[in-house]
Amino acid sequence: MIIDGKSIAAQIRAEVAAGAAALARSARAPGLAVVLCGDNPASVSYVTAKERACAECGIASFPVRFPAGVSREELLAEIRRLNAADEVDGILVQLPLPGGIDEQEIIRAIAPDKDVDGFHPVSLGSLAIGLPGFVPCTPAGIVELLLRSGFDPAGKHAVVVGRSNIVGKPVATLLARKGRGGDATVTLCHTATKNLAAFTRAADILVVAAGHPGTVGEGMVKKGAVVIDVGVNRIADPSKKSGFRLVGDVDFNAVRSVAAAITPVPGGVGPMTIAMLMKNTLQAAQNHLAAKS
Ligand code: GUN
Repeated sequence: MIIDGKSIAAQIRAEVAAGAAALARSARAPGLAVVLCGDNPASVSYVTAKERACAECGIASFPVRFPAGVSREELLAEIRRLNAADEVDGILVQLPLPGGIDEQEIIRAIAPDKDVDGFHPVSLGSLAIGLPGFVPCTPAGIVELLLRSGFDPAGKHAVVVGRSNIVGKPVATLLARKGRGGDATVTLCHTATKNLAAFTRAADILVVAAGHPGTVGEGMVKKGAVVIDVGVNRIADPSKKSGFRLVGDVDFNAVRSVAAAITPVPGGVGPMTIAMLMKNTLQAAQNHLAAKS
């Protein structure tokens, strides 16, 4: 079975649109500031997709654009302005930032109640100790994909490949936590793991977020496992108008016949990340309006 992230994400956006419309009737539409520095092609394409999703969901988007040469001070001043802006419920700063800017300093400047990306240390710390807060969108999207496809992680052995702050570590935490979407036994593998295949072959649920094509190939997946491919890698392809095509971290053709279910790239995890950003933005708006009333 191929897990259709595109259609599950469309369903979530429709749910968000209903919630946003209700909020707009009673108070105002949710608002998301989308900050892009420079013109990295992948970032431009992500930001465009996020703004398009806002329009579809009835969320007001506030585009903020800076040249690649933006200074730390300019960026911090803009974040302070957005933190104070009443109509802005969520602030998204597209990563990576241009060289020379300390990403962690910029993320720390975002008010945690507007941190819809879930990257602030307060959000990640809350996730780690089980307090309410925004969950990073890709990890939240992965858990939602599993649940809505009928693969509850409870009691399963989930193996995560990759220990990044925005995917590997938070998805391992989510899968291990008590309650809905969690209760798995989790193994976290990374670049220093010896004999990766021995771990991936033991997985009931395998989440691959290594950032390298071919990280998981032939013979590395147990029969009947569920494989979530988080990789988004651009590979040169002269037959395409753009000159490239996207591949994941998993060798899809080698694995699809062994796995019970697998996400494609594109059309798997990617659309879910954006859908969960919309969901977090609606939640932020609901929180803000409830705090005011
Ligand atoms: N760059 C890669 N993934 C993400 C994401 O989920 N959010 C932001 N802001 N930047 C990213």
